[in-house]
Amino acid sequence: MPTTSWNRHHVLSLADFTPDEYNIVLQTAASFREVLSRRTKKVPALQGQVIANLFFEPSTRTRSSFELAAKRLSADTLNFASSTSSMTKGETILDTAKTYLAMGTDIMVIRHKDAGVPQAIAQEMDRLDVRVSVLNAGDGQHEHPSQGLLDLFTITTLLNPENPRLELLAGKKVAIVGDILHSRVARSNIWSITASGAELHLAAPPTLLPQLFADFGKNRPGKLFLHWELDAALADADFVMTLRLQKERMTANLLPSLREYHHRFGINRERLAQCKPHVKVLHPGPVNRGVEISSDLMDDPEFSLIQTQVTSGVAVRMALLYLIGSSKVA
Ligand code: CP
Repeated sequence: MPTTSWNRHHVLSLADFTPDEYNIVLQTAASFREVLSRRTKKVPALQGQVIANLFFEPSTRTRSSFELAAKRLSADTLNFASSTSSMTKGETILDTAKTYLAMGTDIMVIRHKDAGVPQAIAQEMDRLDVRVSVLNAGDGQHEHPSQGLLDLFTITTLLNPENPRLELLAGKKVAIVGDILHSRVARSNIWSITASGAELHLAAPPTLLPQLFADFGKNRPGKLFLHWELDAALADADFVMTLRLQKERMTANLLPSLREYHHRFGINRERLAQCKPHVKVLHPGPVNRGVEISSDLMDDPEFSLIQTQVTSGVAVRMALLYLIGSSKVA
């Protein structure tokens, strides 16, 4: 496994990921994808380490795949959900984290509805001078780095199954369509895709794509374009990523209606005709069928990579846990 230039103790954001770091994750995930295809899908890499999944916000994919990834690496796992925890009796987030620290946790995987919570816990662990790593599993509308990495792995593996690398995306056209304003997935993907040298096109109604997103494209290898209509974003695209309307993070009525939204920005077969013939569609999930993507397209294996993304998530999260866990004992 390629761990030589991995020095990162926490994974909180992709904003400062280097090309080397992307490629180490991609290559390590490719090795684990091979492990997951074996009859015995388990390796002893993190035997004896304790990984705590601290989910203060609901999750299906991220929580389950981090848990499965930890188990495939032979780590011991602790699962926390705030609704069934002592937080209902007034315990704070930091005291919850310190409780898991006292039980010998080595890596904390943290999801929270508010931006900055994983960063705050990582800072507290560093202040306490304990060698506990924090992995951001999605914080508010800030970032979802493991999702950005699994999306990158899904795309680059399609381009070269044996040797997925960041550079494979250079010169490709990627469109991200939907509720970009509220999406942590979009932010992490903006960092990874613009790092690759691809052209990234963001498309949404103006209320969900403010002009300030143009700043994300400054001083990046790849070019970033903003569109408030769909057609120019889809024209000749190689990959289209659709996003859910995140109503739980909307503080005002930002759209006339879901029907109107689907009519203008929903992805369906007819719209894909503008893209390259081999175009593939991604969605981080969960999906609102018939809103951001038509139900039949979501289930069509000729175009949809949605199930592949979920499968990729286990190998990529194994890679992250392995890289962080191995660097802790080094
Ligand atoms: N993509 C994603 O984060 O899904 P979950 O909310 O189910 O984890």
